[in-house]
Amino acid sequence: MRIRYFLTCCALCAAFTAVSAQDREVIAGIPVNYDESKTGDYKATLPDPLVMLNGKPVKTAKQWYKKRRPEIVRLFEENQYGKWPAQKPPLRYDIKTDEGMGGTAVRKQVTLYFCEDKSQFVNVLIYLPKDANGPVPLLLNLSFFGNSMASGEEGILPSSSWDSRTKTRVTQQAGGGFGGGFGGGFGGGRGGGMMTSTIQSLLKEGFGFATFQYTDIDPDFLGGATLGVRSLYLKPGAEEPEPDEWGSISAWAWGVSNIIDYFEKDDDIDATRVAITGASRLGKTVMWAGAREPRVAMVLASCSGEGGAAISRRNFGETVAHLTEKTRFPYQFAANYGKYAEDVTKMPVDANMLVALIAPRPLLLQTGTTDNWSDPKGEFYAAVEGGKVYRLLGKDDLGTTEMPAPDTPIYHTLGYFMHEGGHGNMPIDWEIFLEFMKRYL
Ligand code: GCU
Repeated sequence: MRIRYFLTCCALCAAFTAVSAQDREVIAGIPVNYDESKTGDYKATLPDPLVMLNGKPVKTAKQWYKKRRPEIVRLFEENQYGKWPAQKPPLRYDIKTDEGMGGTAVRKQVTLYFCEDKSQFVNVLIYLPKDANGPVPLLLNLSFFGNSMASGEEGILPSSSWDSRTKTRVTQQAGGGFGGGFGGGFGGGRGGGMMTSTIQSLLKEGFGFATFQYTDIDPDFLGGATLGVRSLYLKPGAEEPEPDEWGSISAWAWGVSNIIDYFEKDDDIDATRVAITGASRLGKTVMWAGAREPRVAMVLASCSGEGGAAISRRNFGETVAHLTEKTRFPYQFAANYGKYAEDVTKMPVDANMLVALIAPRPLLLQTGTTDNWSDPKGEFYAAVEGGKVYRLLGKDDLGTTEMPAPDTPIYHTLGYFMHEGGHGNMPIDWEIFLEFMKRYL
């Protein structure tokens, strides 16, 4: 089992490395800096989460919640991720309940529909400890893989990816592998079992586990806005949302918010104790979901990097210019984000403020020593700078301004962990996540 898990992780890492463009000097025609002496002085222009747009300081928790927090959320909406629609669809779902994990778990499969004709939906696979005496806290995992890859069990409903060429939804039950290609998500193939040991460890500690494939909600390629959930809200005749409206990261995060709506209806789940996790672009997604949706109780963000928890004003690894270059990932953000490619110091937000929006809720930033493209140090500094809001709200920040050694977790409400290795999740990260959940969820 461990070997299979390891191999699957390796396949995932290999795929990530391919798209992560690690350590190349020029990406999409734009130079990449990996020289610490050339990162610039991010502190000189970093916006302060505790100074309002009118220049007044934020001194109390009340001012933070009433004034400054909503102000920063709006700035991120307008300038980085894009607003999601004000109106939620009515909650519509089907549930299939049986047993899983060799009889130790209640297995629920919830299909959540986002529109009346049921053409837009997400399949959420949930495992809950069978012997629970009440509603349980759980970990919601945003996955690049179909649900059947998580547990490898029989009878798992298919997840979807998209064919970017034919622009069609591809639901795959049989025949494993990474169907659909990265651009559309890693297919919904069967096989796997890559999360089995993690699921079992969570269940043993009294936590539930839920997972969904992100591309059920919205595709992961340019031009996808007419296909996934965003298509439901486009103005007549439009093919793209407005420049301050949702990119696909915001759409995936909106999916999380809708899934929490369902959790609130499920008596077996404690919807006030939902942790969320995702890696890479899904690390960015859980950062934004945690910032935007206050019902998220904990965020475990893996290698979210640029456009996530790494300070954009620090020129190291990927930059806003790389992210928003037309052949790369502009569609994942509000179109307005591209305006800051030339001069990131004009951006009214930065990652320290994203960290601050998650306060006072527990947040763990997980990075990797060789994941230079995602700038692990830039994430650490964002936590150092964002920590002042944790302190204002009476919670512990990192407690240090020095990067911890690799494989040495900081278990504070605002936590940090850098594994020895590259981009994405490694088995050790799941152990750290579980420990963090035991302490703070
Ligand atoms: C690319 C992108 C990153 C992103 C990553 C991923 O490498 O440049 O910003 O995090 O893909 O999602 O795998």
